[in-house]
Amino acid sequence: MLRDSDASALRAALRAAPYTVDAVAELLGADAHRALMRNETTPARRRTADGSPLSTLTRLFALQLPVSLDEAERALPGLIDPLSVAGVLERSVGEVAARVDLRAYGDDHHDWWVVCDLTPGLDGSPRTVGPEHVLGISEASSSLAQLTVREPVGSALDLGTGCGVQSLHLASHAGRVVGTDVNPRALAMARATAALNADDPSSPAFEVRDGSLFDPVRGERYDLIATNPPFVVSPATGERLVYRDSGLPGDEVVRRIVTEAPSYLNPGGWCQVLANWVHVEGQPWTDRITDWLSGTGCDAWVLQREVADLPTYVEMWLADAGLQGAPDYVQRYDTWLGWFEEQGIEAIGFGWLSLRNTGRDVPLLRLEEWPYEIEQPIGPHVSAWAARTDAYGAATDDELLAAHLVQADGLVQETIGPAGAADPEVIMARLQRGVRRARQLDTVEAGLVGACDGDLSVGQIIDALAQILGHDAAQLRASTIPTVRALVADGYLH
Ligand SMILES: C[S@@+](CC[C@H](N)C(=O)[O-])C[C@H]1O[C@@H](n2cnc3c(N)ncnc32)[C@H](O)[C@@H]1O
Repeated sequence: MLRDSDASALRAALRAAPYTVDAVAELLGADAHRALMRNETTPARRRTADGSPLSTLTRLFALQLPVSLDEAERALPGLIDPLSVAGVLERSVGEVAARVDLRAYGDDHHDWWVVCDLTPGLDGSPRTVGPEHVLGISEASSSLAQLTVREPVGSALDLGTGCGVQSLHLASHAGRVVGTDVNPRALAMARATAALNADDPSSPAFEVRDGSLFDPVRGERYDLIATNPPFVVSPATGERLVYRDSGLPGDEVVRRIVTEAPSYLNPGGWCQVLANWVHVEGQPWTDRITDWLSGTGCDAWVLQREVADLPTYVEMWLADAGLQGAPDYVQRYDTWLGWFEEQGIEAIGFGWLSLRNTGRDVPLLRLEEWPYEIEQPIGPHVSAWAARTDAYGAATDDELLAAHLVQADGLVQETIGPAGAADPEVIMARLQRGVRRARQLDTVEAGLVGACDGDLSVGQIIDALAQILGHDAAQLRASTIPTVRALVADGYLH
């Protein structure tokens, strides 16, 4: 799609504009920017009429408006013809339009550009997506980027790279990055994204390979695998949209990734997956995922973030495919529901799986439902979970009693009770960081948490509480230790 020399000239033009996330946001202003996020371009049109290179690039790519040849030449000097040949632009008499999206993207430390397909459905036009459509940066892309553990690693794999967005992030902290895909259009766009950002010394170019799931990396091992796979659970009928449909039944694509990933992980390596999984009649979702995880030799933390009822799920993905109002909409809807019924599927879970190849004889699995607001990025808290499981996951009761624990950063206590009452009815411990857990404490637990400043050991604190409250110390140790274990596992105490 882009020759290296065109990529570097294009990068220079984008930088000169400067076509960056911050510059575009400032140009549009908050209201027009938010409208554009809702696929409405009208407010942004009014803010980009000055003919400057930044306005021209924003009009061309973000608003999908044709611009005059003169404006285009000023914004992309000497590049109109080569970019037309490369399939990025389309030139007609006196005008230039974009054929693909060149999106300004970045994080706190980087200004990047991502090559992807144009956003469908702007300004209420029909949302038309072809089978090989290459998504830009979606909500799911951002979720995975925020979930990913960003520690320096030697190698990373982005399975199902699409436009290459995860590979860009991975390249900022991995020595070597491979992105894979089966969609030829995605492979070309990911390569263009890699070429366009290749001179950033803090996120060097990544490699892009063609092939399904782990096929392109057979025999290799990675320190980190990050994947936002095509996880939509749909009947294998009709046209397959490759960005979301794997062609495998139910949640089989996720099962395969989870069960096969450990063979591609170095010791201590992570595999982080964004996924849907089915809730089947008579089987708790946690049993289904535990079955997948139990033979992997990996510790795992699975967070179910949402559960969709079946009609909501079908409507969402029919709308995503632009099928609302199509003549066969009702028939497709009905077929999908009928297929769910045949499979015994009752609902669809959405969430995050973080596996870590610890090689423990009995891996530590934590599966939980957490639909509440959390702190983003959550990645650092996934690392912290791993550090806690290493420190205390396999600790004996005696080791826990001997530990000198401290409260987590930002742990607060809330008390609830009638106004003016001497004692509260309810005491809550609430974490302000990470998944922002909260937990009700009884008097002993509240006393324990309050006294954890690293000075006394857990055993000494419990003995002191036994004395104050008139309990038997040995009994209180035995009854309190499971709570201590939970408070450590949940990150209230370190
Ligand atoms: C949901 S998109 C994710 C794109 C990008 N990684 C992101 O985070 O936005 C899923 C990607 O997986 C690719 N894909 C589909 N089937 C695949 C398979 N069997 N093996 C590898 N990649 C596949 C699709 O082409 C698509 O690019």
